Amino acid sequence: MEYDFDKIIDRHGTGSLKFDCAERRGKSKDLLPLWVADMDFPVPDEVVDALVNRSRHAIFGYTEPTDSYFEAVTGWLENHHGWKTNPRWYVLTPGVVFALAAAVCAFTEPGESVIIQQPVYYPFSEVVNDNGRKLVNCPLVYSNGAYSIDFDAFEHAVEQEDVKLFLLCNPHNPGGRVWSRDELRRLGDICNRHGVVVVSDEIHADFNRPGYEHVVYASLGEEYAQNSITCTSPGKTFNMASLQVSNIIIPNQKLRRTFRHSKTAFGYSQMNALGLAATEAAYKYGESWFLQLKEYLEGNYVFLKSFIEERLPQLTNVELGSTYLAWIDCRALGLDDNGLKHLVEDGAKLWLDMGDVFGPDGSGFIRINFATQRSVLEQALEQLESAVNGYLASRGE
Ligand SMILES: Cc1ncc(COP(=O)(O)O)c(C=O)c1O
Repeated sequence: MEYDFDKIIDRHGTGSLKFDCAERRGKSKDLLPLWVADMDFPVPDEVVDALVNRSRHAIFGYTEPTDSYFEAVTGWLENHHGWKTNPRWYVLTPGVVFALAAAVCAFTEPGESVIIQQPVYYPFSEVVNDNGRKLVNCPLVYSNGAYSIDFDAFEHAVEQEDVKLFLLCNPHNPGGRVWSRDELRRLGDICNRHGVVVVSDEIHADFNRPGYEHVVYASLGEEYAQNSITCTSPGKTFNMASLQVSNIIIPNQKLRRTFRHSKTAFGYSQMNALGLAATEAAYKYGESWFLQLKEYLEGNYVFLKSFIEERLPQLTNVELGSTYLAWIDCRALGLDDNGLKHLVEDGAKLWLDMGDVFGPDGSGFIRINFATQRSVLEQALEQLESAVNGYLASRGE
């Protein structure tokens, strides 16, 4: 490998949410953080060069994406996902969560219903509740260690609650389900039948594991594309969340206008010039880095999976199709959410995302971000193992 993903780079003192904000968030300073979804790896050299070069120009006035920016982004989507997009379809936002909130405000009125599938990334419920809309949850079905969709329950909820908007997580976080063409089509058909606009959050699209194919929702066909908002971002793929660039792709002109109006109603217009420069360089030159990163992450996943099978047999790793976020069923330990949190934080000295933050359906699970150096991951799993063993010993097992 050209890049050394094993090399530890100290992130303390950079304002890192993971490494510098424990006490502010009510956590003990000595916890090893594997929670929020960013990676402990530096971006490709070409991205650093682009940032340095753009900085040297030293004028940071209002900036719009250029033709060359769109060539880079459309090229990535076409090469990696077989999806041809037109620069006219793009609306740029300073993040995907911003786009989810803008979509909620654009396509629903206060009090109207938005459907989500918990357990799901917690801002999905926040952008609905915080904007005074009605949250409708049609939970995923968890059975034999895998998640699926109850399509009848989904359609029933859409009808009963007069749902206007669906926030789809594609691939799903947490749980890492990569939705098949057939599953997406069935969801899309229900939404199209009932006039529900589909927002597909595809921020983790690039992380499909070997043997899994990411299907862009809007690529299913014209009738799906024309009723969709696709949220993409280099934030996860290239570890540049704080550079705050998301490309929101809306082929339908009417939906695009409504969405754009919502964005401007928030008071947001031009993007951050450094974010644009980094995004263009990442999509243009970052492929080789990304492919090596994926190989490294796959090694981490295989390591984590066998560690759990061999040394933590009380826990069940949910097989991931995508993302770098392991989702682990701890319910066999017989702990409630507080007890599990106590075991993770006070026993294992880890800062993880506890399953219940993703909705009640995530209760009893933990999410481990394994986009870190293998040695750090190993240390974290050993800490978890010793806390679990200590807990089992205290119960006389
Ligand atoms: C599904 C999903 N959507 C959106 C985000 C955050 O996107 P952004 O930082 O662009 O708002 C995350 C981050 O973890 C995520 O997992």
